[in-house]
Amino acid sequence: MMSRFLLFGLLFATCSLAFASDPSSLQDFCVADLKNKVLVNGVVCKDPNQVKVQDFLFRGLNRMGNTSNAVGSNVTAVTVTQLPGLNTLGISMARIDFAPRGINPPHTHPRATEILTVIEGSLQVGFVTSNPENRLITTVLQKGDVFVFPEGLIHFQKNVGNGYALAIAGLSSQNPGVITIANAVFGSNPDISKDILAKAFQVDVNTVYQIQSKF
Ligand SMILES: *[C@@H]1O[C@H](CO)[C@@H](O)[C@H](O)[C@H]1NC(C)=O
Ligand SMILES: *[C@@H]1O[C@H](CO)[C@@H](O)[C@H](O)[C@H]1NC(C)=O
Repeated sequence: MMSRFLLFGLLFATCSLAFASDPSSLQDFCVADLKNKVLVNGVVCKDPNQVKVQDFLFRGLNRMGNTSNAVGSNVTAVTVTQLPGLNTLGISMARIDFAPRGINPPHTHPRATEILTVIEGSLQVGFVTSNPENRLITTVLQKGDVFVFPEGLIHFQKNVGNGYALAIAGLSSQNPGVITIANAVFGSNPDISKDILAKAFQVDVNTVYQIQSKF
């Protein structure tokens, strides 16, 4: 009887460990074979004997992204797509450039916590806690400051300095994903019907039409 309890206890402990995060690597690396047609949760591994130094290297994060767009920012992502060696490692990074008064609009990463540091300029940053509080946690960061956006929460950045601003972010997934709220809600393909959005946002259908036409 006792031993059965122990067995269940052990099984339960093992299962909770396995589900608490990505499974840990069972090998040194699993470089993504991005051309492979086999679908798995992640990307299948290249033959380790075919792996080259380039698989672990991305060059060019020194280059500024073009911020001449509607929001005045540009994200240069280095995820498993740009750096195949990240496959199964649960980590990635990004460079974010901001024109004066540019914003990185409210968005969420469905699979990653983000840690961000300001290299140049100053940024207002913030995130909103989940329902029902929806509390806004916000501050202004200066060069050298580090801020964390917890996994899944809606967050944003805004350049509040006079010149260009630059931030570097680390993300706790090889493939963090991004859902930009305005684009996803008002720019889905096909559209979410106007009456749904009108009721959800408590505005009239014409206002929804106006916003949708911009995405
Ligand atoms: C970001 O910058 C790159 C490099 O300048 C450019 O190719 C890309 O179109 C820009 N993206 C946006 C959304 O402006
Ligand atoms: C930046 O993007 C804008 C808009 O797409 C374009 O007109 C401009 O030539 C780009 N600048 C550079 C340096 O690529």
